[in-house]
Amino acid sequence: MGLKILGIDTSCDDTGVGVVELAPDGTVKVLANRVWSQTVHATYGGVMPELASREHVERIDSILGEALAEAGLSLGDIGAVAATSGPGLVGALLVGLMYGKGLTQALGVPFYAAHHLEGHIYAAASEAALSAPYLALVVSGGHTHLFDVPQSGEYVLVGATKDDAAGEAFDKVARLAGLGYPGGPAISEAAKQGDPNAVMFKEPLKGQKAFDFSFSGLKTAALLAHRAGAAPADLAASFQRAAVQFLVGTTVRAAESYGRKTVVVSGGVAANAALREAFAATGLKVVFPAKGLNTDNGAMIALAGAAALHTGRAASPLTVGAEAYAPLTAVSHRSA
Ligand code: KG4
Ligand code: ZN
Repeated sequence: MGLKILGIDTSCDDTGVGVVELAPDGTVKVLANRVWSQTVHATYGGVMPELASREHVERIDSILGEALAEAGLSLGDIGAVAATSGPGLVGALLVGLMYGKGLTQALGVPFYAAHHLEGHIYAAASEAALSAPYLALVVSGGHTHLFDVPQSGEYVLVGATKDDAAGEAFDKVARLAGLGYPGGPAISEAAKQGDPNAVMFKEPLKGQKAFDFSFSGLKTAALLAHRAGAAPADLAASFQRAAVQFLVGTTVRAAESYGRKTVVVSGGVAANAALREAFAATGLKVVFPAKGLNTDNGAMIALAGAAALHTGRAASPLTVGAEAYAPLTAVSHRSA
């Protein structure tokens, strides 16, 4: 019987609680993953921070109850609690962070503060053991970061977006093409009926020696094509192909440059089928999170907590606070 770890993520507009089991040999198993995706923001066209915090407060108890029921456990079975401390919306983060700290006090178990992006990366541990060195591409609605992970817990920033995040670009192109929200799944669905050669997109940052990303050019080109009368399905298929080629091409160049053979791809955009196919064709070993663990969730935070425990990292002090901006490279922890 392994240690049961509870994970909580309330960094943005999803209230996520998950439970994982950590076996003594380091293998992990996701026992539960419950997410409440807030709908109150729909009418505003963006996330309203104060409403997000209030919703987390209202929902967190019931989501915890659902997660425990799904795992077939009671609170007394939990051996450690991990919660996201940043980056994210401070008010939203505080709900899960304080809730998690309170639980550890009541249960007498250790507390682990987790970095949201480290959680996204460890979401892939649901599919395969992550053994460094590897490259990690995190592509979500708020982040587009490429890290080199030379050893477990050490993160070197290799590249990042200069403007929009990848998921944000999918969302904006979907909106202008009238395909709905969230844009990623909408683009992916519409693209099935479209011609990926209908609209020509210029490769962003063409010729760069670095490994950065940029999506504003693709977004503007999509707007111009839309105004010129491109069909939504064709626009979706063409944009998706351009975005996927750019993400995969840049990552492959970085893998060659850093001599890495394994790439972890995570975050909401990692759910994209075309992206998965393109990565599968690269010859690299590519690890994606299990279904349901790509977008924000609590299980990925429990998985990050499991990695911390397994590598003997010290528990976090209860004085740890919420941080809106928290670069992953700054909180790197070498497993001593
Ligand atoms: O990781 P996530 O839940 O939120 C952040 O931490 O930002 O990612 C949400 C993003 C949204 O922008 C959504 O459009 C995108 O992930 N996404 C996708 C797909 N599913 C979700 N993008 C492309 N293809 C998909 N299938
Ligand atoms: Zn996220």
